[in-house]
Amino acid sequence: MAILVTGGAGYIGSHTCLELLNSGYEVVVVDNLSNSNVVALERVHKLAGKPVTFYEVDLLDKEGLEAVFSENKIDAVIHFAGYKAVGESVEIPLNYYQNNITGTLILCQVMQAFNVKKIVFSSSATVYAPTASGEAISEDFPLGATNPYGRTKLMIEEILRDLYVSDNSWSISLLRYFNPVGSHESGQIGEDPSGIPNNLTPYITQVAVGKLKQLRVFGDDYPTSDGTGIRDYIHVVDLALGHLKAIDKVMTTAGVEAYNLGTGKGYSVLEMIHAFEQASGRSIPYAIIDRRPGDIAICYSDASKAKQELGWVAERGIDEMCADAWRWQLNNPNGYEASEESMSIVK
Ligand code: NAD
Ligand code: UFG
Repeated sequence: MAILVTGGAGYIGSHTCLELLNSGYEVVVVDNLSNSNVVALERVHKLAGKPVTFYEVDLLDKEGLEAVFSENKIDAVIHFAGYKAVGESVEIPLNYYQNNITGTLILCQVMQAFNVKKIVFSSSATVYAPTASGEAISEDFPLGATNPYGRTKLMIEEILRDLYVSDNSWSISLLRYFNPVGSHESGQIGEDPSGIPNNLTPYITQVAVGKLKQLRVFGDDYPTSDGTGIRDYIHVVDLALGHLKAIDKVMTTAGVEAYNLGTGKGYSVLEMIHAFEQASGRSIPYAIIDRRPGDIAICYSDASKAKQELGWVAERGIDEMCADAWRWQLNNPNGYEASEESMSIVK
């Protein structure tokens, strides 16, 4: 069975490609490499002992995408491709709407034309309206994004729901990720942010390896146990495995469903720092500064729907998340830099 993975060279995509190959799927990747490096797919090839078929194609290039569907018999699609930086989306919203929304529209048009009607979409916990309650967030919580990036996710969810209403033979899973962290245990693939990281764990690992001087902790006056923000960090390999369960679901059931992918447990920024210090044996210098605008105090999932309906639970805890993130950072202090690895898989 062949799965088309859009954005498959990226952080979550590359981990998902590896798990798909390990489970016997054929994998076809479409990625324009705007935020990734083809070396990630070379490493996936080595780890799995099997190649992916890679097309350097932009989702906005409809003809290029049609050629991919003509040349491969695709059974289902996992759709990761998109821009994802919240702050940048506030500065250049039109680029975000163009890339994320138009890219998805073109993908769905081509899928429809080729009668491929099974899709797993990368949504985000950012689609939930901010809540001050501190409760676990379940799928029926009020929705309401607070920035252009989040609105693209919410709009795409609605577009996909409309698509299903128009044609009940579609099977659609909307996966709302909480905070993906860590890397494959090999330390060969991982998160490779360009420039200074926005997110907590890549920032911590770059401080630990000496690339950045100290972590800035955004506020210690939240109504939480130690005053710092609480999030539901999920190991990227657990997240990847959630996609395989979602593929099982869309292969067997028509419909459209949203699922939270999280652990159901929250950790504070200080707890993450301490867990990372334990895992790496290094100290992480940090300074408490003001809250980051737009941040909320607490965000963690109720992941029981994914357990009941997909048979999926996150199994890896924060010690493993930190140890694996550290192994990746140590092995690859400059991420996927220029490499001797062959480019033979590039179409
Ligand atoms: P990533 O940037 O590493 O991967 C996205 C990939 O899509 C990149 O390889 C990029 O080159 C590619 N891409 C972007 N626009 C494209 C286009 N028009 N055509 C072809 N390829 C294109 O990001 P990630 O962290 O792996 O995230 C994957 C998905 O999960 C994204 O949709 C993101 O919004 C979503 N998500 C991520 C997080 C997170 O914290 N990482 C949280 C929630 C949701
Ligand atoms: N934080 C710091 N210092 C930093 C970075 C982060 O203290 O340098 C804190 C934040 O204030 C927050 C926590 O660490 O309390 C996590 O912050 P991240 O930036 O890692 O993650 P967010 O929860 O803000 O957002 C992430 C993604 C969003 C996504 C959301 C929910 O960046 O795209 O998770 O999935 F929408």
